[in-house]
Amino acid sequence: MKISMKRIVRAMSIIMVVIVYITTIILSSSIIDTNNIFSKNNIIVLAIFIVISYIASVIVSNKFTLPLKRIEKGMKLVSDGRLPDISRIRGTEKFEEYDDLKKAYVSMLRVIKKNTFDLNSQQSKTEIILEHMADGMIAFSTSKQVVHMNKAAMRMLNLTESEDTFEVICQKLNLNVAFDEVMYLPNYQSLEIKTEMGEMALSIVFAPFFSDELNPMGIIMIIRNITDSVKTDNVRKEFIANVSHELKTPLTSIRGYSETIMNGDLTYQEIMRFTKVINQEANRMSRLVSDLLQLSKMDYKRQTWNKVTLNTVEVINRVCEKVRYEAEQKSHKLEVICSEKVPNIYVDKDAIEQILINILTNSIKYTPDGGLIRVYAGPVENRVYIKVIDNGVGIPQKDLSRIFERFYRVDKARSRKMGGTGLGLSIVKEMVDGNNGTINIDSKLNEGTEVTMTFPTTKE
Ligand SMILES: Nc1ncnc2c1ncn2[C@@H]1O[C@H](COP(=O)(O)OP(=O)(O)OP(=O)(O)O)[C@@H](O)[C@H]1O
Ligand SMILES: [Mg+2]
Repeated sequence: MKISMKRIVRAMSIIMVVIVYITTIILSSSIIDTNNIFSKNNIIVLAIFIVISYIASVIVSNKFTLPLKRIEKGMKLVSDGRLPDISRIRGTEKFEEYDDLKKAYVSMLRVIKKNTFDLNSQQSKTEIILEHMADGMIAFSTSKQVVHMNKAAMRMLNLTESEDTFEVICQKLNLNVAFDEVMYLPNYQSLEIKTEMGEMALSIVFAPFFSDELNPMGIIMIIRNITDSVKTDNVRKEFIANVSHELKTPLTSIRGYSETIMNGDLTYQEIMRFTKVINQEANRMSRLVSDLLQLSKMDYKRQTWNKVTLNTVEVINRVCEKVRYEAEQKSHKLEVICSEKVPNIYVDKDAIEQILINILTNSIKYTPDGGLIRVYAGPVENRVYIKVIDNGVGIPQKDLSRIFERFYRVDKARSRKMGGTGLGLSIVKEMVDGNNGTINIDSKLNEGTEVTMTFPTTKE
């Protein structure tokens, strides 16, 4: 049963009037001095009345205002960013006037609680995304100070605590951008700039961000490491330039010699000599095209390897016989040195032959006449190693790391003169990888080169 505050106040006023009336009657004869209204007794009685009515009013008003105080305390907690316990607003249940207020207060707290939860989970989601982004993100306030930075940005730019302003960070990125230029881009556009920092190629995107009322609040900077894609792009451009160049050289000779033949007035010997050159150049082009086709087949994984168990020594001897004539032309000594029991290898037959031919023809080509080329084979940790050692011109240390790149040649002119296109070792590398092998090249300039490969003995 709820009590009405209005009724309580009315009842209390009536009760007070009645009490005053009765007390006056009771006391008028004995205590109150009717002759002197300001007598001592009268003042004491008045004081007692005042104290009693003050205490009564304090008790009643406290009862009425306690729930209001509790609600006020709750509101203060909300404004401090904390949430009070909804169930704890005692004192309201006794008075019907508080029913609506309590309902409104409770539903307001529920809405705030829900919104805060939604906001927090949204914020933590955004924070998780920002922290785990591969791209760096830095937010600057309108005063050009860093207000947020994710881990990727810190890692990429290696920033110290004092490096926290737009200017300092742009300087570190070798960028010459004015804050206002980005802040007031027309139509809320973004601005992308490519830059370099040390070995890294970076793409930097700037975009202004705004409040709900569309007031500018600062700038977001997204930093993307594009080193790999720039490298890939450069390799692609270099590859196209190389292919065009390798095709253009023989084509120019073919065109020149064929035009000379067509112009007539040549002896039979001259025609034969020129036709031979045309034939050589056409062969060179066709070798280049078939090497490229082979590489592209391996690139697109269209190459299938028919792996079988092969006798290692037999394979080496067979390949050596194939290149012996070429070696003899340069008076090289070609030796096969195998330990007593060389295990079989488990590889594609054509691939292993092509690998050994490419390595051996390199040794033959890049060793001055009368050189010594040795092929070793033996077991090594459940695998078979094959080593080709020559005492040729060798490869400078600085070129060794690039030797498997397509078209890479230490001495372009010399290699081209020998009919080389610079694709031999890149084909070898792809084939070795495709057959679960390993390859390593060690070399000393003017001393010789050592190519070491290992292959599996069984299916891995
Ligand atoms: N045994 C070696 N001794 C010295 N230099 C070598 C040796 N093997 C390879 N090289 C160097 O490595 C470069 C790349 O070799 P690669 O076999 O890929 O190309 P190439 O022999 O020039 O042409 P291709 O093999 O396509 O006919 C060669 O141009 C050469 O400079
Ligand atoms: Mg070669």
